[in-house]
Amino acid sequence: MATQDTYNYTVVRQFAIMTVIWGIVGMLVGVLIAAQMAWPVLNFDIPWLTFSRLRPLHTNAVIFAFGGCALFATSYYVVQRTCHVRLFCDKLAAFTFWGWQAVIVSAAVTLPLGITSSKEYAELEWPIDVLITLVWVAYAVVFFGTLVKRKVAHIYVANWFYGAFILTIAVLHLFNSAALPVSLWKSYSAYAGVQDAMVQWWYGHNAVGFFLTAGFLGIMYYFIPKQAERPVYSYRLSVVHFWALAFTYIWAGPHHLHYTALPDWAQSLGMVFSLILLAPSWGGMINGIMTLSGAWEKLRTDPILKFLIVSVSFYGMSTFEGPMMSIKTVNALSHYTDWTIGHVHSGALGWVAMVSIGAMYYLIPRLFGRKIHSVKLIETHFWVATIGIVLYITSMWISGVMQGLMWRAVNPDGTLTYSFVESVQAMHPYYIVRFLGGAVFLSGMLVMAYNLWKTIAGARPAVAAIPAPAH
Ligand code: HEM
Ligand code: HEM
Repeated sequence: MATQDTYNYTVVRQFAIMTVIWGIVGMLVGVLIAAQMAWPVLNFDIPWLTFSRLRPLHTNAVIFAFGGCALFATSYYVVQRTCHVRLFCDKLAAFTFWGWQAVIVSAAVTLPLGITSSKEYAELEWPIDVLITLVWVAYAVVFFGTLVKRKVAHIYVANWFYGAFILTIAVLHLFNSAALPVSLWKSYSAYAGVQDAMVQWWYGHNAVGFFLTAGFLGIMYYFIPKQAERPVYSYRLSVVHFWALAFTYIWAGPHHLHYTALPDWAQSLGMVFSLILLAPSWGGMINGIMTLSGAWEKLRTDPILKFLIVSVSFYGMSTFEGPMMSIKTVNALSHYTDWTIGHVHSGALGWVAMVSIGAMYYLIPRLFGRKIHSVKLIETHFWVATIGIVLYITSMWISGVMQGLMWRAVNPDGTLTYSFVESVQAMHPYYIVRFLGGAVFLSGMLVMAYNLWKTIAGARPAVAAIPAPAH
Protein backbone atom coordinates (compact mmCIF):
# COMPACT_ATOMS: atom_id res chain seq x y z
CA MET A 1 0.00 0.00 0.00
CA ALA A 2 2.81 2.28 0.71
CA THR A 3 4.78 4.08 -1.94
CA GLN A 4 8.27 5.53 -1.85
CA ASP A 5 6.70 8.97 -1.25
CA THR A 6 4.77 7.81 1.79
CA TYR A 7 7.93 6.78 3.56
CA ASN A 8 11.28 8.48 4.01
CA TYR A 9 13.50 5.99 2.22
CA THR A 10 16.25 8.51 1.46
CA VAL A 11 17.79 8.30 4.90
CA VAL A 12 17.33 4.53 5.02
CA ARG A 13 19.15 4.17 1.67
CA GLN A 14 22.00 6.39 2.84
CA PHE A 15 22.52 4.43 6.04
CA ALA A 16 22.17 1.09 4.22
CA ILE A 17 24.87 1.96 1.69
CA MET A 18 27.19 3.24 4.41
CA THR A 19 26.67 -0.02 6.31
CA VAL A 20 28.34 -1.89 3.47
CA ILE A 21 31.08 0.69 2.99
CA TRP A 22 31.98 0.99 6.68
CA GLY A 23 31.75 -2.79 7.02
CA ILE A 24 34.48 -3.15 4.42
CA VAL A 25 36.63 -0.39 5.95
CA GLY A 26 36.29 -1.69 9.53
CA MET A 27 36.99 -5.28 8.55
CA LEU A 28 39.94 -4.23 6.39
CA VAL A 29 41.47 -2.62 9.48
CA GLY A 30 40.61 -5.84 11.37
CA VAL A 31 42.50 -7.89 8.78
CA LEU A 32 45.45 -5.50 8.99
CA ILE A 33 45.70 -5.72 12.79
CA ALA A 34 45.28 -9.50 12.58
CA ALA A 35 48.22 -9.51 10.15
CA GLN A 36 50.23 -7.29 12.51
CA MET A 37 49.78 -9.83 15.28
CA ALA A 38 51.20 -12.54 13.04
CA TRP A 39 53.89 -10.35 11.44
CA PRO A 40 54.73 -7.38 13.71
CA VAL A 41 56.89 -5.85 10.99
CA LEU A 42 53.61 -4.62 9.47
CA ASN A 43 53.50 -1.93 12.15
CA PHE A 44 56.09 -0.23 9.87
CA ASP A 45 57.41 1.75 12.86
CA ILE A 46 54.92 4.47 11.94
CA PRO A 47 53.04 5.66 15.06
CA TRP A 48 49.63 6.02 13.43
CA LEU A 49 49.84 2.57 11.87
CA THR A 50 50.69 0.75 15.10
CA PHE A 51 48.45 -2.00 16.43
CA SER A 52 47.63 -0.01 19.57
CA ARG A 53 46.12 2.84 17.54
CA LEU A 54 44.49 0.76 14.80
CA ARG A 55 42.82 -1.65 17.20
CA PRO A 56 40.39 0.96 18.62
CA LEU A 57 39.91 2.20 15.06
CA HIS A 58 38.81 -1.34 14.14
CA THR A 59 36.43 -1.70 17.09
CA ASN A 60 34.90 1.75 16.59
CA ALA A 61 34.55 1.23 12.85
CA VAL A 62 32.90 -2.18 13.04
CA ILE A 63 30.68 -1.50 16.06
CA PHE A 64 29.63 2.11 15.61
CA ALA A 65 30.12 2.70 11.90
CA PHE A 66 29.14 -0.67 10.40
CA GLY A 67 26.81 -1.86 13.20
CA GLY A 68 25.53 1.65 13.90
CA CYS A 69 24.60 2.36 10.28
CA ALA A 70 22.87 -1.05 10.05
CA LEU A 71 20.84 -0.17 13.15
CA PHE A 72 19.92 3.31 11.93
CA ALA A 73 18.92 1.97 8.50
CA THR A 74 16.83 -0.93 9.75
CA SER A 75 15.22 0.91 12.68
CA TYR A 76 14.13 3.77 10.40
CA TYR A 77 12.75 1.27 7.90
CA VAL A 78 11.02 -0.96 10.42
CA VAL A 79 9.44 1.83 12.46
CA GLN A 80 7.92 3.34 9.31
CA ARG A 81 6.67 0.05 7.91
CA THR A 82 5.19 -1.21 11.16
CA CYS A 83 3.64 2.12 12.18
CA HIS A 84 2.35 2.92 8.67
CA VAL A 85 3.65 6.48 8.84
CA ARG A 86 6.53 8.49 7.46
CA LEU A 87 9.48 9.22 9.77
CA PHE A 88 8.96 12.11 12.12
CA CYS A 89 10.84 15.17 10.79
CA ASP A 90 12.89 14.53 7.64
CA LYS A 91 15.39 17.27 8.50
CA LEU A 92 16.24 15.76 11.86
CA ALA A 93 16.57 12.33 10.24
CA ALA A 94 19.00 13.83 7.71
CA PHE A 95 20.92 15.41 10.60
CA THR A 96 21.32 11.98 12.22
CA PHE A 97 22.83 10.66 8.99
CA TRP A 98 25.34 13.45 8.42
CA GLY A 99 26.05 13.84 12.14
CA TRP A 100 26.79 10.13 12.52
CA GLN A 101 29.10 10.16 9.48
CA ALA A 102 30.89 13.16 11.03
CA VAL A 103 31.37 11.18 14.26
CA ILE A 104 32.83 8.27 12.28
CA VAL A 105 35.19 10.43 10.25
CA SER A 106 36.35 12.24 13.42
CA ALA A 107 37.04 8.86 15.01
CA ALA A 108 38.98 7.74 11.95
CA VAL A 109 41.19 10.84 12.19
CA THR A 110 41.68 11.14 15.95
CA LEU A 111 42.27 7.51 16.91
CA PRO A 112 45.29 6.93 14.62
CA LEU A 113 46.68 10.25 15.89
CA GLY A 114 46.64 8.76 19.39
CA ILE A 115 43.87 11.06 20.68
CA THR A 116 41.92 8.82 23.04
CA SER A 117 40.16 8.78 26.38
CA SER A 118 41.48 5.20 26.70
CA LYS A 119 38.11 3.81 27.82
CA GLU A 120 37.35 0.73 25.72
CA TYR A 121 34.56 1.27 23.17
CA ALA A 122 34.32 4.88 24.44
CA GLU A 123 37.73 6.08 23.29
CA LEU A 124 36.54 9.22 21.51
CA GLU A 125 37.46 12.52 23.14
CA TRP A 126 34.93 14.92 24.57
CA PRO A 127 34.13 17.16 21.54
CA ILE A 128 33.16 14.01 19.59
CA ASP A 129 31.21 12.76 22.62
CA VAL A 130 29.20 15.98 22.55
CA LEU A 131 28.41 15.44 18.87
CA ILE A 132 27.38 11.83 19.59
CA THR A 133 24.99 13.12 22.26
CA LEU A 134 23.40 15.58 19.82
CA VAL A 135 22.96 12.94 17.13
CA TRP A 136 21.58 10.46 19.62
CA VAL A 137 19.00 12.89 20.99
CA ALA A 138 17.92 13.62 17.42
CA TYR A 139 17.72 9.87 16.73
CA ALA A 140 15.50 9.38 19.79
CA VAL A 141 13.23 12.25 18.72
CA VAL A 142 12.88 10.86 15.19
CA PHE A 143 12.30 7.27 16.32
CA PHE A 144 9.93 7.92 19.22
CA GLY A 145 8.27 10.79 17.32
CA THR A 146 7.41 8.30 14.60
CA LEU A 147 6.03 5.86 17.17
CA VAL A 148 3.87 8.61 18.64
CA LYS A 149 2.25 9.50 15.32
CA ARG A 150 1.75 5.86 14.29
CA LYS A 151 -1.48 4.81 12.57
CA VAL A 152 -1.46 1.31 14.05
CA ALA A 153 -2.46 0.90 17.69
CA HIS A 154 -0.05 -1.93 18.40
CA ILE A 155 3.70 -1.33 18.73
CA TYR A 156 5.42 -4.24 17.00
CA VAL A 157 8.01 -6.01 19.17
CA ALA A 158 10.97 -5.08 16.95
CA ASN A 159 10.32 -1.45 17.88
CA TRP A 160 10.53 -2.31 21.57
CA PHE A 161 14.01 -3.67 21.04
CA TYR A 162 15.08 -0.66 18.96
CA GLY A 163 13.55 1.68 21.55
CA ALA A 164 15.41 0.00 24.44
CA PHE A 165 18.63 0.18 22.45
CA ILE A 166 18.24 3.91 21.79
CA LEU A 167 17.30 4.81 25.38
CA THR A 168 19.89 2.65 27.10
CA ILE A 169 22.76 3.74 24.86
CA ALA A 170 21.86 7.37 25.66
CA VAL A 171 22.10 6.75 29.41
CA LEU A 172 25.28 4.65 29.13
CA HIS A 173 27.01 7.22 26.95
CA LEU A 174 26.13 10.14 29.22
CA PHE A 175 27.31 8.45 32.42
CA ASN A 176 30.40 6.69 31.15
CA SER A 177 31.70 9.64 29.13
CA ALA A 178 31.37 12.15 31.98
CA ALA A 179 34.79 13.81 32.01
CA LEU A 180 36.66 16.99 32.80
CA PRO A 181 38.19 18.54 29.66
CA VAL A 182 41.62 20.07 30.14
CA SER A 183 42.16 21.02 26.49
CA LEU A 184 40.39 20.63 23.19
CA TRP A 185 41.57 17.03 22.77
CA LYS A 186 42.25 15.87 26.31
CA SER A 187 39.90 15.12 29.19
CA TYR A 188 39.99 13.12 32.41
CA SER A 189 37.26 10.75 33.52
CA ALA A 190 34.89 11.98 36.20
CA TYR A 191 35.49 8.72 38.07
CA ALA A 192 38.62 7.29 39.61
CA GLY A 193 40.06 3.90 40.46
CA VAL A 194 37.71 0.99 40.85
CA GLN A 195 34.61 3.19 40.40
CA ASP A 196 35.96 4.17 37.01
CA ALA A 197 36.43 0.49 36.12
CA MET A 198 32.94 -0.36 37.36
CA VAL A 199 31.26 2.44 35.37
CA GLN A 200 33.36 1.54 32.32
CA TRP A 201 32.28 -2.12 32.35
CA TRP A 202 28.71 -1.32 33.21
CA TYR A 203 28.91 0.69 29.99
CA GLY A 204 31.02 -1.87 28.10
CA HIS A 205 28.84 -4.85 28.86
CA ASN A 206 25.65 -3.00 28.12
CA ALA A 207 27.13 -1.72 24.89
CA VAL A 208 27.24 -5.45 24.06
CA GLY A 209 23.75 -5.97 25.49
CA PHE A 210 21.98 -3.04 23.94
CA PHE A 211 24.09 -1.96 20.96
CA LEU A 212 25.32 -5.36 19.73
CA THR A 213 22.31 -7.34 20.93
CA ALA A 214 18.99 -5.54 21.53
CA GLY A 215 19.14 -3.50 18.32
CA PHE A 216 20.06 -6.55 16.27
CA LEU A 217 17.26 -8.52 17.92
CA GLY A 218 15.01 -5.80 16.49
CA ILE A 219 16.42 -6.80 13.09
CA MET A 220 15.79 -10.47 13.84
CA TYR A 221 12.16 -9.90 14.83
CA TYR A 222 11.34 -8.00 11.65
CA PHE A 223 13.48 -9.49 8.92
CA ILE A 224 13.24 -13.22 9.72
CA PRO A 225 9.41 -13.29 9.65
CA LYS A 226 9.46 -11.15 6.49
CA GLN A 227 11.98 -13.22 4.61
CA ALA A 228 10.47 -16.53 5.80
CA GLU A 229 6.93 -15.22 5.17
CA ARG A 230 5.90 -16.67 8.52
CA PRO A 231 4.67 -14.97 11.70
CA VAL A 232 6.96 -14.79 14.73
CA TYR A 233 6.93 -18.26 16.35
CA SER A 234 5.59 -16.99 19.67
CA TYR A 235 4.66 -13.36 20.06
CA ARG A 236 4.13 -13.88 23.78
CA LEU A 237 7.65 -15.25 24.12
CA SER A 238 9.01 -12.20 22.29
CA VAL A 239 7.49 -9.89 24.90
CA VAL A 240 8.80 -12.01 27.81
CA HIS A 241 12.15 -12.14 25.98
CA PHE A 242 12.23 -8.34 25.79
CA TRP A 243 11.58 -7.61 29.46
CA ALA A 244 13.75 -10.45 30.77
CA LEU A 245 16.67 -9.42 28.58
CA ALA A 246 16.44 -5.72 29.41
CA PHE A 247 16.21 -6.41 33.14
CA THR A 248 19.00 -8.98 33.33
CA TYR A 249 21.67 -7.46 31.06
CA ILE A 250 22.07 -4.31 33.10
CA TRP A 251 23.50 -6.22 36.14
CA ALA A 252 26.04 -8.43 34.42
CA GLY A 253 28.90 -5.91 33.79
CA PRO A 254 31.14 -6.96 36.71
CA HIS A 255 31.94 -10.27 34.95
CA HIS A 256 34.55 -8.19 33.10
CA LEU A 257 36.24 -7.41 36.41
CA HIS A 258 36.71 -10.81 38.04
CA TYR A 259 39.69 -11.04 40.40
CA THR A 260 40.19 -7.27 40.44
CA ALA A 261 39.89 -4.66 43.20
CA LEU A 262 36.11 -4.66 42.69
CA PRO A 263 34.41 -6.01 45.85
CA ASP A 264 33.94 -9.75 45.66
CA TRP A 265 30.17 -9.58 46.16
CA ALA A 266 29.84 -7.35 43.08
CA GLN A 267 31.84 -9.83 41.00
CA SER A 268 29.63 -12.70 42.18
CA LEU A 269 26.49 -10.67 41.47
CA GLY A 270 27.73 -10.07 37.92
CA MET A 271 28.40 -13.79 37.52
CA VAL A 272 24.96 -14.82 38.77
CA PHE A 273 23.15 -12.39 36.47
CA SER A 274 25.30 -13.54 33.55
CA LEU A 275 24.22 -17.12 34.19
CA ILE A 276 20.57 -16.07 34.40
CA LEU A 277 21.05 -14.23 31.09
CA LEU A 278 21.34 -17.54 29.31
CA ALA A 279 17.58 -18.03 29.68
CA PRO A 280 16.25 -14.90 27.94
CA SER A 281 19.02 -15.10 25.34
CA TRP A 282 18.08 -18.64 24.40
CA GLY A 283 14.39 -17.81 24.58
CA GLY A 284 15.02 -15.20 21.90
CA MET A 285 17.19 -17.49 19.84
CA ILE A 286 14.59 -20.26 19.89
CA ASN A 287 11.88 -17.78 18.95
CA GLY A 288 13.94 -16.57 15.98
CA ILE A 289 14.83 -20.01 14.67
CA MET A 290 11.40 -21.56 15.28
CA THR A 291 9.82 -18.81 13.19
CA LEU A 292 10.87 -21.04 10.33
CA SER A 293 8.63 -23.90 11.49
CA GLY A 294 6.60 -25.05 8.57
CA ALA A 295 9.01 -23.39 6.16
CA TRP A 296 12.27 -25.20 6.83
CA GLU A 297 12.68 -26.12 3.18
CA LYS A 298 13.23 -22.44 2.37
CA LEU A 299 16.54 -22.69 4.16
CA ARG A 300 17.83 -24.88 1.36
CA THR A 301 17.16 -22.40 -1.38
CA ASP A 302 17.11 -18.92 0.10
CA PRO A 303 20.60 -17.57 0.91
CA ILE A 304 19.20 -14.49 2.70
CA LEU A 305 17.41 -16.77 5.15
CA LYS A 306 20.64 -18.72 5.56
CA PHE A 307 22.40 -15.53 6.68
CA LEU A 308 19.60 -14.69 9.09
CA ILE A 309 19.16 -18.13 10.62
CA VAL A 310 22.87 -18.91 10.90
CA SER A 311 23.32 -15.53 12.61
CA VAL A 312 20.75 -16.47 15.23
CA SER A 313 22.53 -19.79 15.73
CA PHE A 314 25.78 -17.92 16.39
CA TYR A 315 23.84 -15.69 18.77
CA GLY A 316 22.82 -18.82 20.66
CA MET A 317 26.38 -20.08 20.68
CA SER A 318 27.95 -16.86 21.97
CA THR A 319 25.26 -16.40 24.61
CA PHE A 320 25.97 -19.92 25.86
CA GLU A 321 29.69 -19.31 25.88
CA GLY A 322 29.41 -15.89 27.61
CA PRO A 323 27.66 -17.19 30.74
CA MET A 324 30.21 -20.03 30.94
CA MET A 325 33.08 -17.53 30.72
CA SER A 326 31.49 -15.45 33.46
CA ILE A 327 31.92 -18.31 35.96
CA LYS A 328 34.87 -17.17 38.01
CA THR A 329 36.87 -20.39 37.77
CA VAL A 330 36.41 -20.51 33.98
CA ASN A 331 37.27 -16.82 33.71
CA ALA A 332 40.49 -17.50 35.63
CA LEU A 333 41.55 -19.45 32.55
CA SER A 334 39.94 -17.41 29.76
CA HIS A 335 40.61 -13.83 30.90
CA TYR A 336 43.39 -12.00 28.97
CA THR A 337 43.53 -14.83 26.42
CA ASP A 338 42.42 -15.19 22.82
CA TRP A 339 39.43 -17.18 24.04
CA THR A 340 37.80 -13.81 24.76
CA ILE A 341 38.65 -12.68 21.22
CA GLY A 342 37.07 -15.89 19.86
CA HIS A 343 33.94 -15.26 21.94
CA VAL A 344 33.78 -11.64 20.78
CA HIS A 345 33.94 -12.57 17.11
CA SER A 346 31.49 -15.46 17.33
CA GLY A 347 29.10 -12.73 18.52
CA ALA A 348 30.42 -9.93 16.33
CA LEU A 349 30.95 -11.76 13.04
CA GLY A 350 28.59 -14.71 13.55
CA TRP A 351 25.68 -12.77 14.97
CA VAL A 352 26.03 -9.01 14.36
CA ALA A 353 27.66 -9.08 10.93
CA MET A 354 25.65 -12.02 9.54
CA VAL A 355 22.26 -10.65 10.62
CA SER A 356 23.15 -7.20 9.25
CA ILE A 357 24.29 -8.67 5.95
CA GLY A 358 21.05 -10.67 5.65
CA ALA A 359 19.01 -7.55 6.41
CA MET A 360 20.92 -5.49 3.83
CA TYR A 361 20.32 -8.10 1.12
CA TYR A 362 16.62 -7.92 1.94
CA LEU A 363 16.53 -4.16 2.18
CA ILE A 364 18.73 -2.64 -0.51
CA PRO A 365 16.99 -4.08 -3.61
CA ARG A 366 13.63 -2.97 -2.17
CA LEU A 367 14.85 0.49 -1.30
CA PHE A 368 16.04 1.05 -4.85
CA GLY A 369 13.12 -0.73 -6.50
CA ARG A 370 15.43 -3.26 -8.15
CA LYS A 371 15.77 -7.00 -8.41
CA ILE A 372 18.96 -8.39 -6.88
CA HIS A 373 21.69 -8.75 -9.50
CA SER A 374 22.64 -12.30 -8.52
CA VAL A 375 21.14 -14.67 -5.96
CA LYS A 376 24.04 -17.01 -6.67
CA LEU A 377 26.52 -14.41 -5.46
CA ILE A 378 24.56 -14.11 -2.20
CA GLU A 379 24.91 -17.86 -1.82
CA THR A 380 28.65 -17.60 -2.52
CA HIS A 381 28.93 -14.80 0.03
CA PHE A 382 27.13 -16.93 2.61
CA TRP A 383 29.58 -19.81 2.33
CA VAL A 384 32.65 -17.59 2.15
CA ALA A 385 31.49 -15.72 5.28
CA THR A 386 30.73 -18.90 7.18
CA ILE A 387 34.11 -20.46 6.38
CA GLY A 388 35.85 -17.20 7.37
CA ILE A 389 34.10 -17.14 10.75
CA VAL A 390 34.83 -20.78 11.48
CA LEU A 391 38.54 -20.26 10.74
CA TYR A 392 38.57 -17.13 12.92
CA ILE A 393 36.84 -18.47 15.99
CA THR A 394 38.24 -21.99 16.10
CA SER A 395 41.80 -20.68 15.84
CA MET A 396 41.13 -18.23 18.67
CA TRP A 397 39.52 -20.87 20.86
CA ILE A 398 42.45 -23.24 20.50
CA SER A 399 45.05 -20.54 20.96
CA GLY A 400 43.13 -19.01 23.89
CA VAL A 401 42.82 -22.21 25.87
CA MET A 402 46.43 -23.07 25.07
CA GLN A 403 47.57 -19.63 26.25
CA GLY A 404 45.63 -19.95 29.51
CA LEU A 405 47.02 -23.41 30.19
CA MET A 406 50.59 -22.40 29.36
CA TRP A 407 50.45 -19.35 31.62
CA ARG A 408 49.23 -21.31 34.60
CA ALA A 409 51.47 -24.39 34.18
CA VAL A 410 53.96 -24.73 37.05
CA ASN A 411 56.81 -27.14 37.69
CA PRO A 412 56.95 -29.24 40.89
CA ASP A 413 59.33 -26.65 42.40
CA GLY A 414 56.76 -23.88 41.83
CA THR A 415 58.52 -22.12 38.92
CA LEU A 416 56.63 -21.39 35.69
CA THR A 417 56.87 -24.12 33.06
CA TYR A 418 56.73 -21.70 30.13
CA SER A 419 58.09 -18.20 29.69
CA PHE A 420 55.69 -15.62 28.20
CA VAL A 421 57.68 -15.56 24.97
CA GLU A 422 57.16 -19.29 24.54
CA SER A 423 53.39 -18.76 24.73
CA VAL A 424 53.66 -16.01 22.11
CA GLN A 425 55.60 -18.35 19.82
CA ALA A 426 52.96 -21.04 20.27
CA MET A 427 50.26 -18.57 19.14
CA HIS A 428 51.91 -17.75 15.83
CA PRO A 429 50.27 -20.42 13.60
CA TYR A 430 46.84 -19.56 15.05
CA TYR A 431 47.33 -15.87 14.34
CA ILE A 432 48.01 -16.76 10.72
CA VAL A 433 44.81 -18.85 10.55
CA ARG A 434 42.82 -15.98 12.15
CA PHE A 435 44.27 -13.58 9.58
CA LEU A 436 43.22 -15.94 6.76
CA GLY A 437 39.73 -16.31 8.26
CA GLY A 438 39.38 -12.52 8.44
CA ALA A 439 40.65 -12.08 4.88
CA VAL A 440 38.17 -14.70 3.64
CA PHE A 441 35.31 -12.95 5.47
CA LEU A 442 36.38 -9.61 4.02
CA SER A 443 36.45 -11.05 0.50
CA GLY A 444 32.79 -12.02 1.02
CA MET A 445 32.03 -8.38 1.83
CA LEU A 446 33.61 -7.35 -1.46
CA VAL A 447 31.38 -9.84 -3.30
CA MET A 448 28.42 -8.23 -1.53
CA ALA A 449 29.50 -4.72 -2.53
CA TYR A 450 29.84 -5.84 -6.16
CA ASN A 451 26.45 -7.58 -6.17
CA LEU A 452 24.68 -4.61 -4.60
CA TRP A 453 26.44 -2.15 -6.86
CA LYS A 454 25.26 -4.09 -9.92
CA THR A 455 21.79 -4.25 -8.38
CA ILE A 456 21.52 -0.51 -7.83
CA ALA A 457 23.21 0.49 -11.08
CA GLY A 458 21.43 -2.19 -13.10
CA ALA A 459 18.10 -1.84 -14.83
CA ARG A 460 16.39 -5.01 -13.60
CA PRO A 461 12.80 -4.10 -12.86
CA ALA A 462 11.36 -3.40 -9.45
CA VAL A 463 10.00 -6.36 -7.53
CA ALA A 464 8.34 -6.77 -4.19
CA ALA A 465 10.36 -9.78 -3.16
CA ILE A 466 13.33 -11.78 -4.32
CA PRO A 467 11.94 -14.95 -5.87
CA ALA A 468 13.45 -18.18 -4.60
CA PRO A 469 15.50 -19.95 -7.25
CA ALA A 470 13.90 -22.97 -8.91
CA HIS A 471 14.16 -26.19 -6.93
C1 HEM B 1 37.23 -9.37 8.84
C2 HEM B 1 36.71 -9.38 10.00
C3 HEM B 1 37.44 -9.08 11.29
C4 HEM B 1 38.76 -9.25 11.65
C5 HEM B 1 39.87 -9.84 10.80
C6 HEM B 1 38.91 -8.81 13.00
C7 HEM B 1 40.11 -8.81 13.70
C8 HEM B 1 40.28 -8.35 14.99
C9 HEM B 1 41.53 -8.36 15.72
C10 HEM B 1 42.86 -8.85 15.17
C11 HEM B 1 41.29 -7.86 16.95
C12 HEM B 1 42.31 -7.63 18.08
C13 HEM B 1 42.43 -8.86 18.90
C14 HEM B 1 43.41 -8.75 20.02
O1 HEM B 1 43.59 -7.66 20.58
O2 HEM B 1 44.04 -9.77 20.37
C15 HEM B 1 39.89 -7.55 17.03
C16 HEM B 1 39.25 -7.05 18.14
C17 HEM B 1 37.89 -6.78 18.21
N1 HEM B 1 36.99 -6.88 17.15
FE1 HEM B 1 37.33 -7.62 15.32
N2 HEM B 1 37.70 -8.37 13.46
C18 HEM B 1 36.77 -8.51 12.43
C19 HEM B 1 35.44 -8.18 12.48
C20 HEM B 1 34.78 -7.62 13.57
C21 HEM B 1 33.40 -7.23 13.61
C22 HEM B 1 32.41 -7.32 12.44
C23 HEM B 1 33.16 -6.76 14.87
C24 HEM B 1 31.90 -6.20 15.49
C25 HEM B 1 30.72 -6.11 14.94
C26 HEM B 1 34.41 -6.86 15.62
C27 HEM B 1 34.57 -6.47 16.92
C28 HEM B 1 35.75 -6.52 17.64
C29 HEM B 1 35.86 -6.19 19.05
C30 HEM B 1 34.71 -5.74 19.96
C31 HEM B 1 37.20 -6.36 19.40
C32 HEM B 1 37.83 -6.15 20.79
C33 HEM B 1 37.78 -7.44 21.56
C34 HEM B 1 38.26 -7.37 22.99
O3 HEM B 1 38.75 -6.33 23.43
O4 HEM B 1 38.16 -8.37 23.71
N3 HEM B 1 35.36 -7.37 14.79
N4 HEM B 1 39.29 -7.85 15.81
C1 HEM C 1 24.47 -14.07 27.68
C2 HEM C 1 25.23 -13.29 26.98
C3 HEM C 1 26.69 -13.02 27.23
C4 HEM C 1 27.43 -13.13 28.38
C5 HEM C 1 26.98 -13.53 29.77
C6 HEM C 1 28.79 -12.73 28.04
C7 HEM C 1 29.86 -12.80 28.92
C8 HEM C 1 31.14 -12.40 28.62
C9 HEM C 1 32.31 -12.62 29.45
C10 HEM C 1 32.33 -13.36 30.77
C11 HEM C 1 33.36 -12.04 28.83
C12 HEM C 1 34.81 -12.06 29.28
C13 HEM C 1 35.18 -10.94 30.16
C14 HEM C 1 36.64 -10.96 30.49
O1 HEM C 1 37.17 -12.02 30.89
O2 HEM C 1 37.28 -9.91 30.36
C15 HEM C 1 32.85 -11.43 27.63
C16 HEM C 1 33.60 -10.66 26.77
C17 HEM C 1 33.04 -10.01 25.67
N1 HEM C 1 31.84 -10.29 25.09
FE1 HEM C 1 30.39 -11.44 25.85
N2 HEM C 1 28.85 -12.40 26.72
C18 HEM C 1 27.59 -12.56 26.19
C19 HEM C 1 27.23 -12.33 24.87
C20 HEM C 1 27.96 -11.60 23.98
C21 HEM C 1 27.56 -11.24 22.64
C22 HEM C 1 26.25 -11.70 21.96
C23 HEM C 1 28.54 -10.43 22.14
C24 HEM C 1 28.66 -9.75 20.81
C25 HEM C 1 27.74 -9.50 20.00
C26 HEM C 1 29.56 -10.29 23.17
C27 HEM C 1 30.66 -9.48 23.09
C28 HEM C 1 31.68 -9.47 24.00
C29 HEM C 1 32.82 -8.58 23.90
C30 HEM C 1 33.03 -7.49 22.85
C31 HEM C 1 33.69 -8.93 24.96
C32 HEM C 1 35.08 -8.38 25.21
C33 HEM C 1 35.04 -7.21 26.10
C34 HEM C 1 36.45 -6.70 26.30
O3 HEM C 1 37.17 -7.19 27.18
O4 HEM C 1 36.84 -5.80 25.55
N3 HEM C 1 29.19 -11.03 24.25
N4 HEM C 1 31.51 -11.69 27.51
